[in-house]
Amino acid sequence: MDGNGRWATSRLKPRIFGHRAGAQALDRVMHYCKDAGIKYLTVYAFSTENWKRSEEEVSGLMTLLSTFIKSKEKELLENGVRFRVIGRRTDLSEKLQKEIAELEEKTKGGAFTLVVALSYGSRDEIVRAAMKFKGSTEEEFAECLDTAGIPDPDLIIRTSGELRLSNFLMWQAAYSEFYFTDKLWPDFDKEEFDKALESFSKRERRMGGRLK
Ligand code: IPE
Ligand code: MG
Repeated sequence: MDGNGRWATSRLKPRIFGHRAGAQALDRVMHYCKDAGIKYLTVYAFSTENWKRSEEEVSGLMTLLSTFIKSKEKELLENGVRFRVIGRRTDLSEKLQKEIAELEEKTKGGAFTLVVALSYGSRDEIVRAAMKFKGSTEEEFAECLDTAGIPDPDLIIRTSGELRLSNFLMWQAAYSEFYFTDKLWPDFDKEEFDKALESFSKRERRMGGRLK
């Protein structure tokens, strides 16, 4: 969900204003996904590196997260959304960890899964998985990742003109398709969403094999 800061700066507003607009974009995109029959949406909300931002921005983002969690419960339940967090959640305040665990528990029956990556870094996730790993296969290793039980992403969309993966789902993205757009995340709309799906639908996914 990249580009919130630039979106705000171009409007001469503080960065947190962009993050709030970004949260609204997430609301919209969740509905586009549900309407399109998509079952899993994973969003990169806060990276292990984002802690290096100013104290003001970090605390603003944490407040926004807490507000999102508290205000969304009813809507998520009504819409059959299962909420799940990946990342090093022990970095978060105990209060936030508790709110997350409660929302995960309450929404666990939902048919559509919203995965929020929080204090997430792929390398960190892989190291933590390696500490737990006792098996010998890729499947067993994947079960040690935070994403255990969640299918690998078919499509990864990166907004705001950046052309990097930035420590996001590196294990899981082995065969994902990518869609890059210059649109800043708060401006991400139905038209852009449709363009991403249209582009995805034209890809030939051989997964390393050959088409007959
Ligand atoms: C939002 O965009 C992503 C988060 C870390 C919450 P940015 O805050 O990275 O926005 P830009 O890249 O400065 O525009
Ligand atoms: Mg950015």
